[in-house]
Parts: sequence; C-alpha cells; structure tokens
Amino acid sequence: MVPDPTPGRCLDPAAHAALRAEFPLLDTGVVYLNSNSTGVVPRGAQHVLTDYWTTLRTWRDEVWHDWHVGLDRYADAVAALIGAPAGSVVTDANLSTLLGRVVSCFDYPPERDRVLITDLEFPTVPFLWQAQRRRGARVEVVGTGGPAVDEEGLLARIDERTLLVCVPHATFSSGATIDLPRLVDRAHRAGALVVVDAFQTVGVVPLDVTALGVDVLLGGAHKWLCGVGTAFLYVRPDLTERLEPTATGWQAGDRALTFQPSRDWAAGAQRFAGGTPFPLTSLVSQVGLDLLAGVGLPAIRAHSLACTRQVIDRAAAAGIAVVSPTEPDRRGGVVCLDVPDGETVKRRLAEQNMICSWRGWLRVGPHVYNTLDEVDAFMDALEKELRR
Ligand SMILES: Cc1ncc(COP(=O)(O)O)c(C=O)c1O
Repeated sequence: MVPDPTPGRCLDPAAHAALRAEFPLLDTGVVYLNSNSTGVVPRGAQHVLTDYWTTLRTWRDEVWHDWHVGLDRYADAVAALIGAPAGSVVTDANLSTLLGRVVSCFDYPPERDRVLITDLEFPTVPFLWQAQRRRGARVEVVGTGGPAVDEEGLLARIDERTLLVCVPHATFSSGATIDLPRLVDRAHRAGALVVVDAFQTVGVVPLDVTALGVDVLLGGAHKWLCGVGTAFLYVRPDLTERLEPTATGWQAGDRALTFQPSRDWAAGAQRFAGGTPFPLTSLVSQVGLDLLAGVGLPAIRAHSLACTRQVIDRAAAAGIAVVSPTEPDRRGGVVCLDVPDGETVKRRLAEQNMICSWRGWLRVGPHVYNTLDEVDAFMDALEKELRR
C-alpha cells in the first residue's frame, strides 16, 4: 500500500498562494470542496471569453483556421497529461457523445457479444450500453451494491465471449479507484478490450494510458481539469484503425477541411469526431489545463491525498462514517461521508458558503487550489451542523 504523504509538505506555500490567486471564486468567502462535481475555473478564462467576443464581433471565415489549431492544441495537451501521443485524443461536448461514438463501432457478433459493466457507473454509461442490446450486445452488470467496484467478480466474468469491459477509474459516488493494470492484463489475455470512464480521476490522479495499455479512455473538463463544456476520448493508436464508428459526422472524414465528400477516415482519433466543433470550450479549458500541467500531477495528487486524509482523520475523530476507501492507493479525489439527513446538511452548509455535493452520501472533493485550513473549516462546520 502506498503511504499517505506528510500533510502540508506537498506544495511550496508561496507557489500555492500564487496558484490560489488564479481562481477568483476562492476569494469570495467560500470554502469550495466540490471539484468532483464542478471544478473552479481560473481567471485567465475571462480573457479567452473577451477575445472570443472580439472574434465574433469582427468575424472573418479565416478564424476557423486558428480555432482548429486551438482545438488540436487542447486535445494534444490532454493527451500529454494522460501519457498518450499527440493525435490520439479527440474532444466533443460531453462524455456521452463520445462514448456514443465508441459503442457504435462494434457489431456484437454472437461469439464476442458480451459487454461487462459495473453497478457503479455514472448513469450515462449503462444507458448507452444497454441501448446496444438492440444491436446484439449482451450487457452484464457486475457488482455487489457496495461503494467499490467488485473487482474479483469482474475478473471472474471475463471470458472469450467478452468483447469489452467498461469501468469507472474512480466511481462518481464514492471515489473508489480500480486496479487498472490487473484488469487490463486479464481482459487482454481473454482478447477483450478495456474502456475506462476517467472523468473522476484525470486532473487529480496521475494516469499513463500508454503504460497501462488501456484501449479507450474518456473524461471531461468541468471537474478536476478546471475547464468547462468539453470532454475527451482517447483510443489506443494501434486500435484506432480497427474501429469504424457509425455514429459519426463530416469532421471524422479525411477531406473534412476541403469540404469534399470524404473517402476515408481522418488520421488518428479525429475519426471519432462528429460535426462542426464548438471551439470556445477548448479555448477556455486550456487555461485550467495549463495551470495544472504547470503544477504537475504528482504534486497535485500528493496535495489531494493530504487534503482527503485530513477529511478522513477529522471524520474518524468525530465519529462520522467514511464510505470511501481510506487507503491512499484506493481513493480518488473525493471522500464520501455517511451522515444522517445528508441532503439537508449539504444545503445548510451551502448557506454558510461551505460547498460540497450530495449523491446519497456527502461528497467532499478538495482540489489542488484548496488548503488544509479550508478542509478544517469545512469539517468544523460539518461537525457543528451534525450536533444541531
Ligand atoms: C464518472 C462520470 N462520468 C461521466 C460524467 C458526465 O458525463 P457527460 O459528460 O456525458 O455528462 C460524470 C459527471 O458529470 C462522471 O462523474
């Protein structure tokens, strides 16, 4: 088991203060521990929005060239963050759209028709896979009803009829992470693919898709990546050419930018694109991504673990049940607490500018821009609320 880092030793205090100053929301008297739901957007976004309006106000069609450069730059920056080569990531409006393109690639023949998912997916994932039953997919949901993925159950179910296994890297409800290397090894030995929903980890938990060998990985900007309105899809480069989405659009073709009918797919992950892209969300999201990349994921993870350790220790001392795994190598960026009448507690905390979320449990999600003092202030307020 990986030991927890020593609290407070993760980030240089001056650099941390400078980083916090980039996030104006933190300066509005709020303790914001809600990044697993919606992350904080840095001040640099304002310049991008202003520039965008200037572009619209002085419109020329040539702008599309720069916008495509901006879209590619963001996709390649996401790729660099997850250990993927340039050109292996494509973006679109949300994860559902991109997963929809992935599910459309398969024919689900009887000899390889099994799709294994878990009972801890974000709701869009089972909804999309179950819709493929009409196209021949045999979708099986594996789980025990507990807060962590039933990994043993999942591994035991993988066989030579399994087309793919789709898992959350960390669950949205408890933040519990899954042992991806073990899963990838088992799935690949059976000839099955591994599709990972990493919305709850990319930006707060280091991840190297190339080293892991995962086949498909998806995530999005508006939580741990400090962006807005865009999601991404990585496909293993040597797999890309074997996948042909039927849910597609002209931007996935090889001649998209000539406005001629395409004869083949565009190179790389661009084959999973759809119609006309909306560049603003990538341009805005680039600001947050650059800040995070500047800090580096190892330092972000160490700080996150120190903050979540503080939540866990304070909860234990106060007799509050912790639902999330407490081992550092098994917890993502959020700690879920089981408190009576939690939805009301969340609302009362919000009235005191203490922001967290509620999804059956109280979800406390500090990020790199939070401090241990903020965690303490939040836990003080929570304890007071529970004593009412
Ligand atoms: C694990 C996970 N997957 C997916 C999503 C969202 O998917 P979409 O971008 O399609 O709304 C979320 C949260 O919004 C999430 O927590």
